[in-house]
Amino acid sequence: MKIISTVAGFARYRPGMPAPVGLVPTMGCLHEGHLSLVKKAREENHSVVASIFVNPTQFGPSDDFNRYPRTFDRDCRLLDDAGADAVFAPAPEAMYPDGYDTWVEVGGITQRLEGAARPRHFRGVATVVLKLLNIVQPDNAYFGQKDAQQALVIHKMARDLNLNVNIQVLPVIRDENGLALSSRNSYLSTSEKAAAGRIPAAFKLAEAMLKEGETSAGLIKDAVTRLLEQEPVLRIEYISIADPCSLEEMETIDRPALLSLAVKAGSTRLIDNTLLAPGWKDSPGQ
Ligand code: PAJ
Repeated sequence: MKIISTVAGFARYRPGMPAPVGLVPTMGCLHEGHLSLVKKAREENHSVVASIFVNPTQFGPSDDFNRYPRTFDRDCRLLDDAGADAVFAPAPEAMYPDGYDTWVEVGGITQRLEGAARPRHFRGVATVVLKLLNIVQPDNAYFGQKDAQQALVIHKMARDLNLNVNIQVLPVIRDENGLALSSRNSYLSTSEKAAAGRIPAAFKLAEAMLKEGETSAGLIKDAVTRLLEQEPVLRIEYISIADPCSLEEMETIDRPALLSLAVKAGSTRLIDNTLLAPGWKDSPGQ
């Protein structure tokens, strides 16, 4: 597996890559969630590139940029095993040289949920993803539904800016307790991790209420809140039940809805989501 750390180095390597080319952008500290994207890219492409770049412009001043886990050697071993052909791992100065000052602002959906909680976050995400797409020029790029809003933002950017890339979004990978895998889980103490197990339990509760015929988003959010509040170590930032495309809050769950939340477990911020589909389990004829 080739490891490339400069934009010029990648430009030299790129013409020798057999098409189609798949790109998996990451910030490293890889887990099975990331690797599921790499494996899918391996199945669907002749060449697979993963990028590892802890992107400073998507972190706010009080975010965890400096303490974000960096495990480069281990990541490279995992990527090699998962079948990546190349890793693009630029230094911050390679992506943002002195005087860098061009930004991608995706409108609308970036104001909600994570965008409301983390001003400028999606500006940094959209900008770095566009740069990575321009550098790697993939046919396919792979993202996780774990970051559902991010996936929507990238889809919208690709559509609005006529990017010639197929954006693929793959399911959330969870651990044996249902907790979504995340690089930030490594910050959790044992008791915080156990408390975070309430998140998948809350999703199950919401699904069960919907199955019993409850369609009020407010009542389901209240029940989810009460369940999470049973763990004193958890602090809810938001719980949302929204249209999965526009992210506008819904009052009645009369069509598929995205239940998403941000919760702090101690000092670690966790996000997760699940799609609520009314009636799908009991539809006539099943
Ligand atoms: P990172 O958090 O490293 O995630 C890289 C990709 O892995 C994202 O598309 C994310 O949605 C996906 N992913 C993370 N956890 C997952 C899980 N449990 N199951 C499935 N997929 C999962 O997201 C970023 O990096 C950055 O914002 C990035 C897009 C690289 C831009 O800097």
